[in-house]
Amino acid sequence: MHPSLLLLLLLCSLVCFLALGTLCAVSDARAFFIFGDSLVDNGNNNYLATTARADAPPYGIDYPTHRPTGRFSNGLNIPDIISEYLGAESTLPYLSPELQGEKLLVGANFASAGIGILNDTGIQFVNIIRISRQLLYFEEYQERVSALLGEDQAKKLVNQALVLITLGGNDFVNNYYLVPYSVRSREFALPDYVQFIIFEYKKILTVRSLTGTSIIFQHLKSVGRTCVLPSLSSFKFDRSYLVDSINSSEKKN
Ligand SMILES: *[C@@H]1O[C@H](CO)[C@@H](O)[C@H](O)[C@H]1NC(C)=O
Ligand SMILES: *[C@@H]1O[C@H](CO)[C@@H](O)[C@H](O)[C@H]1NC(C)=O
Repeated sequence: MHPSLLLLLLLCSLVCFLALGTLCAVSDARAFFIFGDSLVDNGNNNYLATTARADAPPYGIDYPTHRPTGRFSNGLNIPDIISEYLGAESTLPYLSPELQGEKLLVGANFASAGIGILNDTGIQFVNIIRISRQLLYFEEYQERVSALLGEDQAKKLVNQALVLITLGGNDFVNNYYLVPYSVRSREFALPDYVQFIIFEYKKILTVRSLTGTSIIFQHLKSVGRTCVLPSLSSFKFDRSYLVDSINSSEKKN
């Protein structure tokens, strides 16, 4: 055999080997799916006509690119850190045009800033992806993966996946407490509102598409300390009033 032909063959098999290696690596890592609000949105709202967006500085100043990405964070957010632990690249926002082919096997992020458990939470942000729509997108995602891998492999990928749901903070911050005498606060005393939210949350979680997956819930209790302050600055709210109320609602419930 001519030496250059041999070299070509060798190179070819090396390339094939590398290509196969990447494919294996992609399908070996556990897929990761994210549902929820701004605490975990990594850019979906950039694709929507909404005011709930993080596409301007100072968002992203500590991100590797030092640019806003749509994450409501100065740098990485919780899903990014979980992806690191899984040994996977960060998931793409579901609405990203880059989410195609093999990238689908990493998982997807369906979260959308502003949403809550209730459909009327975040109504002021108009065009956001409410949780029921996020779950419909998840079904659509599964069809796309089935087309790529076949139905059995797609089912396996989803059943072995990790799911993060971060939901409920906005039902308090942006719905109950946003303005004094909000509709929901006139309708419900706080303990009854909490019961109502839990009841509605349970309904969401019984959807068929989530059964069989491992779910991490981010606890509502973190709201008082993580999510309220950034929201407050944009709504010019009386900080201490709101933090106080949320602190006391945590204590009561
Ligand atoms: C919220 O909206 C979805 C989609 O329109 C609907 O299926 C669901 O029942 C609604 N939830 C409530 C509590 O009304
Ligand atoms: C709310 O609770 C946290 C932790 O329990 C405390 O550090 C903070 O001072 C409280 N805030 C107010 C306004 O009471």
